[in-house]
Amino acid sequence: MAQPVVIAVTNQKGGVGKTTTSINLSYCLAQAGKNVLLIDFDPQGNATSGLGVDKQGLEKTVLDVIQNTLPLSAVTLSTEYKNLSLVPATPELANAEVELARAERRFTRLKDAIAGYDGYDYIIIDSPPSLSLLTVNGMIAANYVLLPVQAEFYALEGLGQLLETIQLIRKGMNPTLELLGVLVTMLDSRTTLSQQVYDEVKKHFPGKVFETAIPRNVRIAEAPSHGEPVGAYDKWCKGARAYKTLSKEVVTRVGQTRS
Ligand SMILES: Nc1ncnc2c1ncn2[C@@H]1O[C@H](COP(=O)(O)OP(=O)(O)O)[C@@H](O)[C@H]1O
Ligand SMILES: [Mg+2]
Repeated sequence: MAQPVVIAVTNQKGGVGKTTTSINLSYCLAQAGKNVLLIDFDPQGNATSGLGVDKQGLEKTVLDVIQNTLPLSAVTLSTEYKNLSLVPATPELANAEVELARAERRFTRLKDAIAGYDGYDYIIIDSPPSLSLLTVNGMIAANYVLLPVQAEFYALEGLGQLLETIQLIRKGMNPTLELLGVLVTMLDSRTTLSQQVYDEVKKHFPGKVFETAIPRNVRIAEAPSHGEPVGAYDKWCKGARAYKTLSKEVVTRVGQTRS
């Protein structure tokens, strides 16, 4: 089987839509017939609970993989959704930062774990809101970064640091890492501010902003409390349709950059 396409969903700001995008992009790719593995790489474990998995009592998580105690296959759960598997996270994942502070090969733990893990077309990594060891592990393991930015006044603030980190990783441990695209999230089409932010993001990242923007949509915000991707919660709402369109754009872009 061909190597999976590995996408790290990254932005060191919290609340910009990383987890929402990781869950819903994974779900839509899976619905389209791709075999998808979603790796929850944030100690908050929101991608885990957002897919309806109870974090209480989970004994095997991505932390075991990062500690080199278990292979990815041993911590992979199947979900209620066809073609979609999950590697869960719990708050203990926060320990990795300290534990691995001086460990050998600490930056490539996830990359090493993914190598040779067959059977997936796409691996989506939901990153924590920091430029931490975990985030860097995610970007070293990935072929692409997908960068969600929230359509708000401070959207571009702090992104310089993230782009510098991507550059450093390209110069060092992952020369082929690419920015797949910038995704504008929580766009409120009724406000001119939202539109201005969208235009500004496009100016800042020429050719990189996805045509699809994710609208602010209450169904998207409700779905995680039901443990469901929005497409399962309310298939026809605006948010579900936007993520479906995004997933097609992602597949197209991946195809273009690989050929
Ligand atoms: N398009 C959207 N419309 C409405 N609410 C959203 C949307 N995207 C995300 N949210 C909500 O915003 C909050 C932050 O999103 P989340 O994906 O958890 O961000 P991050 O993972 O970057 O911290 C969550 O409560 C989520 O449900
Ligand atoms: Mg999150």
